[in-house]
Amino acid sequence: MEVFEAISGRRTVKAFTGPALTPDELEPLFDAARWAPNHKLTEPWRFRVLGEASRSALKIAAAGVAVAHAPEGSDSQLIGAVAAKKLDRAPTLVAVSCVRNADPVLEAEDFAATAVAAYIVLLTAHASGFAGYWRTPEVLRDNAGTEALGIGPEEDVLGLLHLGRTEGGLPKPPDRADSSRFVSYLD
Ligand SMILES: Cc1cc2nc3c(=O)[nH]c(=O)nc-3n(C[C@H](O)[C@H](O)[C@H](O)COP(=O)(O)O)c2cc1C
Repeated sequence: MEVFEAISGRRTVKAFTGPALTPDELEPLFDAARWAPNHKLTEPWRFRVLGEASRSALKIAAAGVAVAHAPEGSDSQLIGAVAAKKLDRAPTLVAVSCVRNADPVLEAEDFAATAVAAYIVLLTAHASGFAGYWRTPEVLRDNAGTEALGIGPEEDVLGLLHLGRTEGGLPKPPDRADSSRFVSYLD
C-alpha cells in the first residue's frame, strides 16, 4: 500500500470480528515500530500483548477504578461492569508504555518517540489488512491498572491499542482541517 493511502485510509475501528492476531501477524508491526525516529536511540517504547490472565486482571482493575470514580447515586456496579466489558471488545490488546528518562528533555523526546512507534503499529496494522484503535482507558491512569499489567512507576503509559479484524468498510473519516489552517511559512 502506498504511504499516503495508508496514512489517510487508516481509521479508528471499535468493532472487531474473528480471532486475535497471532504472534506471526503481530511481529511485523512491532518490527516496523523499531524504526520510529528516536533521539539518542534510547528505544524507550514497550509493548505488552495481553494474554488471558492479564486481560482478566485488567478487567478486574477497570471495574474497581470505575466503581471508585462512579458519580454519587449512580449504579456503580453497572458502571464497573461496563468498564470491564469494554476490555473484551478487541481480540488483541497491546499496552504501550515508555520507559522514563531521568533527563527531562530526553523524557519528553522519548514520550514523543513512543507515540510515533505506537502509530507505526496502527499504521502497519492497517496496511496489513487489520483494524486498530488507540484507546486511553481510565484504568491505565491508575496504579491498579498498571500493576495488573506489571507496569512499574519507571514507565509512562500511552495507551491500549485494540487490534483485530473488521467486517465491511472502514468508518467515514472525521473531518480534518485543511493544512492551511495550521501551517504557516515564516519569513
Ligand atoms: C493518544 C490518543 C488517545 C486516544 N484515546 C481514545 C479514547 O480513549 N477513546 C476513543 O474513543 N478514541 C481515542 N482515540 C482515537 C481518536 O478518537 C481517533 O483517532 C479520532 O477520532 C480520529 O479518528 P481516526 O483515527 O479514524 O482518524 C485516541 C487517539 C490518540 C492518538
